[in-house]
Amino acid sequence: MKHLSITRFGSLLIAFSLVCIGRSMAQSKPWTVPKEYASLTNPNTNNQQEIKEGKTLYTAYCTPCHGDKGKGDGVAAASLTPKPADHSSPTMINETDGNLFYKITEGRTPMPQFKTTLTEKQRWELVLYIRTLCKTAKK
Ligand code: HEC
Repeated sequence: MKHLSITRFGSLLIAFSLVCIGRSMAQSKPWTVPKEYASLTNPNTNNQQEIKEGKTLYTAYCTPCHGDKGKGDGVAAASLTPKPADHSSPTMINETDGNLFYKITEGRTPMPQFKTTLTEKQRWELVLYIRTLCKTAKK
């Protein structure tokens, strides 16, 4: 009887670690963007008004996870796996506008999707605003 429960506990433990390994592997997969999105360009004209709108939206919807300055250090960040992206990081230069638009649109757990919450124009305003968080990012 004792043996049985130890074996049971052991297999539970193995099952649990497999789930964890599986999850972390899934999370570290690159976030691929479909070709038709990657080459999209921002239809907004990059004026101050649109950037301001973007900032307001960012504060309302994104800072809880991504933080005030987009550093990925919002109040909810500590409890999330993977961690929210750092929008002020120079690696953001490699992201096309279309990539950012796609990621905001579709999300990826734990990041929610904003396809229905925000209009296309609003999502593109967020892309404009994110660009200002990383000063060295291409416009
Ligand atoms: C619940 C927390 C949460 C909220 C709210 C959230 N995000 Fe995220 N975001 C994340 C996480 C976590 C990732 C990393 C996901 C991954 O790599 O799988 C991420 C990644 C991203 C990325 C991808 C960055 C890259 O380099 O690939 C962009 C862009 C982004 N978020 C924009 C936004 C915007 C804009 C908003 C608000 C409209 C927002 N996020 C709201 C958690 C969140």
